[in-house]
Amino acid sequence: MTQDNVPVLTIDGPSGSGKGTITRLVAQRLGWHYLDSGALYRAVGIAAGWADLDLSDASALVRCTFDTDIDFQEDHGGEPRIIVNGLDATDELRTETAGAAASAIAAIPEVRAALRDRQRAYRRPPGLVADGRDMGTVIFPDAAYKVFLTASAEERAERRYKQLSEKGVSVTLPGLLREILARDARDANRAVAPLRPADDAVRIDTTGLPIDAVVARVLALMPAR
Ligand code: DC
Repeated sequence: MTQDNVPVLTIDGPSGSGKGTITRLVAQRLGWHYLDSGALYRAVGIAAGWADLDLSDASALVRCTFDTDIDFQEDHGGEPRIIVNGLDATDELRTETAGAAASAIAAIPEVRAALRDRQRAYRRPPGLVADGRDMGTVIFPDAAYKVFLTASAEERAERRYKQLSEKGVSVTLPGLLREILARDARDANRAVAPLRPADDAVRIDTTGLPIDAVVARVLALMPAR
């Protein structure tokens, strides 16, 4: 099987649409590989922070993108751990600071280009489920299966609030809603690879839907197995 023949399911959508959870569960059910492309942007964002780089210095950020070693691993319980330049950065990666840095560097075309082949390298047999913003439009335009998840901004802020409060992170709901709306606007309005559904993506609004129901709707798009 050449790499181009390996089946791909892309799951794109805004932050808090449930992409991460849904993608992991669907990949597990299919027995396919899983790519969290947002984690690559976050990893470069925190590596840039560690190196004290200016988030507007495109050439330094491109060098940082090439130099940053990112390794996806699993802990004993099967939970993903992300190792950046040899350090376990899983918890730092999930912070709002890392998300904001990722969103800022993701607007730089050369950074996106530097990550393109790296993302495509995850396409390996028996298949790949790829989660992001431009998986179906730019990285894997030939994917056989494409999904675009949405949810109301209020519900996404509530999900994030619950997630972060459970981890003991102190945040407020109005603050999170503001951040989500600002990030949506930045991701949707940037000149390069803006957040938008691929023409051939199936849209699923997850507002009010339990995770199992979304997983079932996604799996229903795949050939019977
Ligand atoms: O999915 P996430 O919240 O981990 O993504 C973090 C940021 O990275 C998000 O604001 C936009 C950017 N991103 C992107 O531009 N393209 C992707 N394929 C994935 C993430």
